[in-house]
Amino acid sequence: MTKQDKSFIPDAGLEHAIDLLRHTPPEQVELPVTFSEHGIGELETLDLLAPHVLGSATYLDSPNALAHMDPPTPWITWATTLWNSRLNQNLLHPATAPFAIKAERKVIEWLAPFFGMNGGHMCSGSSVANLTALWTARDTKQIEKIVASKAAHISIEKAARILGLPYGQIATKSVGQIDPEKLGDISNACLVLTAGTTATGVIDSLELVGQAKWSHVDAAWAGPLRLSPDYADLLDGIEKADSIAVSAHKWFFQPKDSALIMFREPEMANPAIS
Ligand SMILES: Cc1ncc(COP(=O)(O)O)c(C=O)c1O
Repeated sequence: MTKQDKSFIPDAGLEHAIDLLRHTPPEQVELPVTFSEHGIGELETLDLLAPHVLGSATYLDSPNALAHMDPPTPWITWATTLWNSRLNQNLLHPATAPFAIKAERKVIEWLAPFFGMNGGHMCSGSSVANLTALWTARDTKQIEKIVASKAAHISIEKAARILGLPYGQIATKSVGQIDPEKLGDISNACLVLTAGTTATGVIDSLELVGQAKWSHVDAAWAGPLRLSPDYADLLDGIEKADSIAVSAHKWFFQPKDSALIMFREPEMANPAIS
C-alpha cells in the first residue's frame, strides 16, 4: 500500500499561491456581494482572496510596523505550516499522528528544563494555557481564589469566571509591577504573576513565586528570554512556579496558534486535566 495518494499533490496551485505571496496584489476593500452559486476552482479562489488576505494584511516585518509582541514569522515556519495543514495530524493517538506526538514530547523535553519545569504540553495560545494552569490549581490544590495584578492579561479573569472562582485584582506599583503590599492573605489562593505584561512588557517580581498555594507565571510574552544567555536572569525565580504559560507565537517566532503550558509536577497535574 502506498503511503499517500499523489493525486492530492497539486500541480500548479501551490506555486501560484507562493507567487501571489511574492507579488502581493494591491489591497481590495470590498468582498463580493453575492455568494457564488458554483465552486469557482482553487486558482480563481486564490486570485479572488489574495487582494483581501494578502493585500490588506498588516505586515509585521514592514519598516513602518512598530515593534509588537507578535513577531513577523520566518519563512521556514510558513513551509512547516503548509506541511501541517496538508497532513492534519490528530494527536489523539499514535496511529493518527506517529511523529507529531513524539515531536510535541521532544519540544517539551527540550524547553521545560529552561524554566525548571518537568513536563507539560502544547496548546493553541496562552489564554488556553492560563486556563489549563488555573484549572489544574483548582482541581489539585483546591485553591479558593485567583489573584493577579490589574495589568494581568484578560484571559486570567476570564479563566477565573469559567472555573467559578473569585478573582482578586491587585494594584500595581508605579512601574506596573504587582504591589506585594496589597496582596493580602494568599495562603489559599493561586497567585498569577505576569512575565511581560501585555501593554508595557513589565515583569512582576518573581520573588513572590511560591508564596501562594499555587503560583502560576503567565510568561506568554517574555518567557523565551529564558533561552537567552544575556537575559535569562530577568526570569530568575520562575523555576519555583507550579505552572508556566508561554506563547510560541510571540517571542518563539512561530505562527499562530501555538503555546506551551508547563508544570513543575506533571505527574500530579496530568491526571487532573486528562
Ligand atoms: C501577558 C499575556 N498573557 C496571555 C496572553 C494571551 O495569549 P494568546 O494570544 O497566546 O492566547 C497575552 C496575549 O497578548 C498576553 O500578553
